[in-house]
Amino acid sequence: MCRPDTHDLRETFGREVETVSAHATEEITQAVHTAVEAALWAPSPHNTQPWSFAVSGDEISVRADSDRQLRTADPEGRQMLISCGAALFNVRLALRVLGYRPRVLVLPDPDRPALLATVRLAPGSGADEHSRLLHGEIERRRTHRAGFTALPVPERLLEELADQAATEGARLTPVRSEAAVRVLSALTGAAQDVQSQDRAFGLEVLRWARPPGSPRRDGVPAEGYPRTARLTNPPFAQRDYTGGRPWGADGSPDGSTGVVAVLTTRGDLRDDWIIAGQALQRVLLHASAYDVSAAFHTQALEMCHLREFLRLEMCSGEYPQMIMRLGFTSDDRPGTRRPLPEVLDELP
Ligand SMILES: Cc1cc2nc3c(=O)[nH]c(=O)nc-3n(C[C@H](O)[C@H](O)[C@H](O)COP(=O)(O)O)c2cc1C
Repeated sequence: MCRPDTHDLRETFGREVETVSAHATEEITQAVHTAVEAALWAPSPHNTQPWSFAVSGDEISVRADSDRQLRTADPEGRQMLISCGAALFNVRLALRVLGYRPRVLVLPDPDRPALLATVRLAPGSGADEHSRLLHGEIERRRTHRAGFTALPVPERLLEELADQAATEGARLTPVRSEAAVRVLSALTGAAQDVQSQDRAFGLEVLRWARPPGSPRRDGVPAEGYPRTARLTNPPFAQRDYTGGRPWGADGSPDGSTGVVAVLTTRGDLRDDWIIAGQALQRVLLHASAYDVSAAFHTQALEMCHLREFLRLEMCSGEYPQMIMRLGFTSDDRPGTRRPLPEVLDELP
């Protein structure tokens, strides 16, 4: 298994600007399009895809699309910025694999809060093996929504995943104690129960749950969520995308919980959320390279009192940004994303 590449923090916060005068304009145009196409495969809550991009010459702007923000579950836009951070990671990775060095400015203009990052292409020296490995997983990675097989996730891989998160400035902590896993399971169940009684939460989930055969290119497809919740022990409540309708996939019996892990950041400002998103995507791609998938359970993080409780009692005061289970699965279904022209502005 590979060790993480530690150059990326410099990539994200570097202020120096270099131009790629030697590269033909056409090659650059092709590269920025390829990088934005990679960005589209980032995860986002309910597959809202809350981003848009603009390209101008050798600069890509990554923007939040607040029309796609979950107003009830995510009023501050935290999950929206995590998603855009994951998309930003894919842009960086794709550019490196194409042979460029991405020069990233995060939140470059306080007067334009929706502009989350700009990425410019600088000449690079070719991608390392690990970048190519992660890049190969961008379209293959899928969110899982059931139990895992009994195969344990190797300890060494868990350490590597923690290193991947640290490389981006976040922390991934596998939850070792059974009691702590039970607490997370209980809080997830409590949050899911509260949300299922709340009309605004329910309507928001239903808005993004796609019926079978829907031609939509966003939202969670019916093949992507189970008709009846699949149990793990302890149980981790799933979102109810069916709303009582006979939608969703059948099959696959109950399974193992897998390894529960929490992604945290030291702060809880907008740049921390973008860091969390980049760390999340790096972790997910590295896991996927070893056939490990993630299931997300973020209900408790959408309830401010529960999130604060988790921060103080389970995360040593750091801010929880994502709760996930990691494990092996035989899932294999295609993902859906909106096409490039819907999300990309070409500027002169
Ligand atoms: C911030 C964030 C929160 C998420 N929360 C959940 C969740 O609570 N339950 C769930 O099943 N999936 C969750 N997801 C996963 C998305 O539903 C998934 O990324 C999206 O449907 C696209 O599918 P894909 O990841 O398979 O490409 C979350 C993703 C992100 C980025």
